[in-house]
Amino acid sequence: MAIRVLFVCLGNICRSPSAENIMNHLIQQRQLDDQVVCDSAGTASYHIGNPPDCRMAAAAKGYGIELKGRARQFDAADFERFDWILAMDRQNYRDIMALSPGAAYNDKVRMMCDFCRTHPDQEVPDPYYGGARGL
Ligand code: 4NP
Repeated sequence: MAIRVLFVCLGNICRSPSAENIMNHLIQQRQLDDQVVCDSAGTASYHIGNPPDCRMAAAAKGYGIELKGRARQFDAADFERFDWILAMDRQNYRDIMALSPGAAYNDKVRMMCDFCRTHPDQEVPDPYYGGARGL
């Protein structure tokens, strides 16, 4: 049985679709498609059905990665569907936990940056309103 991983941000149009598609790229490179399955979702409903943000899609394209998928909202059933639920920032983490069906599910939810080894950041910054490197 494949391990199922869900990446979660606020809108599901910038950070989590990037994480999902980058992860899929790495999975394909390593021929692990039958072992790991990824998806992404947003805690908010604003962008349901929308494609990834064009600025994020352009940035990903620069790395040779196409951002596929449409935004959907995280819901409580995702606690059943996934083995790991990875939050981009602490507010995402709190919003996910608020929907937890019970304590037995809570260990599935982690901060994505807990798994990052190449930088010290503990959260993935929200890029939507543009930062120092906003396009
Ligand atoms: P994401 O970025 O959570 O990385 O998809 C955002 C997308 C939309 C909004 C905020 C963050 N928004 O406020 O609409």
